[in-house]
Amino acid sequence: MRGMRAILACCAAIGLITVAATVIWGRGVSASHSPAARTPDVATEQYGYRLIAQTTEILGPDVADPKMRFTDSRLACASCHIGAGVEPGNLSLATAMNRYPRISPRSAGNETIQDRINGCMMRSMNGRALADNSAEMIAMVAYLRFLADQDAAMGASQRKAHDPAALKTPNRAANFENGRRVFEKRCAACHGQDGAGLAASTNLTLGYVFPPLWGPYSFNDGAGLHRILTAARFIKTKMPLGRADLDDDDAFDVAAYINSKPRPEMTGLDRDYPDRTRKPVDTGYAPYADSFPLEQHRFGPFPPIEAYYKNLKK
Ligand code: HEC
Ligand code: HEC
Repeated sequence: MRGMRAILACCAAIGLITVAATVIWGRGVSASHSPAARTPDVATEQYGYRLIAQTTEILGPDVADPKMRFTDSRLACASCHIGAGVEPGNLSLATAMNRYPRISPRSAGNETIQDRINGCMMRSMNGRALADNSAEMIAMVAYLRFLADQDAAMGASQRKAHDPAALKTPNRAANFENGRRVFEKRCAACHGQDGAGLAASTNLTLGYVFPPLWGPYSFNDGAGLHRILTAARFIKTKMPLGRADLDDDDAFDVAAYINSKPRPEMTGLDRDYPDRTRKPVDTGYAPYADSFPLEQHRFGPFPPIEAYYKNLKK
């Protein structure tokens, strides 16, 4: 697997600098005041790395301690942020830390790195928010800070993304029949004919070898990957894992195919993007500041909607 070398390199790097002390992050809250106080020394970068790489094993629906069941999905953060965010290119977390705080179009408010992580917790992971002062949040933020510091220390030449060219949006609606064909030929061997993924063992606390693409244990309909252009970009650049070679049309159609399947639903999505003119065109839920049908927002064609908003801004 492609991400593996990066993960190992990263682990080694973390090991080298082994931060023995508990990381005390930003707001002056020490881990010993957090809900996970029974493990006061855990809020380290290494714990942050494990939380992102093996999320299901620590925060998933099957963990022994009910208080630690923060996600209903059986995904890891690293199911999407490949190589625990170390791998360059699409959905890399290497420089995420530097982009926050910022104003979020989705909430129209100030968004901290903690808010952004919780966005993925509640949507991509179909779970609940972690408290800012929990050992888990402090550790994940410490890990992201570590990645950004590593990136800054690296030369710009090494920082280049290895991804293929950006996706060019096809000017047509998605073709589900082609999407199904691509899925069966290129995806089902790992993710399963039914998209349910493959657990590492019948003991589900050990997580998944291949994560679920739809169904009750996948991301919910408020997640970024539920937008088919976002999903198509990810799929084009990262899937099939280790051999990403789909063209724009196949990536677009298979993204639509997996997102036409049932998955958990999030409530309150109508409150997203208070300024509707800033809502991404492929957001698959109403309301919109235009009169294109919901179906077109979900599955295209997108260029006419993009043109409409471009005109509006003029
Ligand atoms: C189902 C896929 C998926 C999973 C699982 C997932 N994320 Fe994300 N994440 C995304 C997408 C999509 C984005 C948005 C990227 C964009 O804005 O273009 C994102 C964005 C982020 C960002 C902001 C990156 C930036 O540079 O602004 C952070 C931080 C983040 N995720 C952390 C996490 C953490 C921590 C977890 C686990 C608790 C997680 N994500 C799980 C898909 C996922
Ligand atoms: C060789 C096995 C393999 C193949 C083939 C493969 N994937 Fe994946 N996929 C993975 C693994 C493994 C991950 C999680 C990333 C990791 O663990 O590094 C993943 C993650 C994903 C994710 C994000 C997490 C989730 O569950 O939603 C999506 C979406 C995805 N794959 C879609 C596809 C699509 C579409 C195809 C076919 C074009 C495909 N994959 C083919 C192994 C594979």
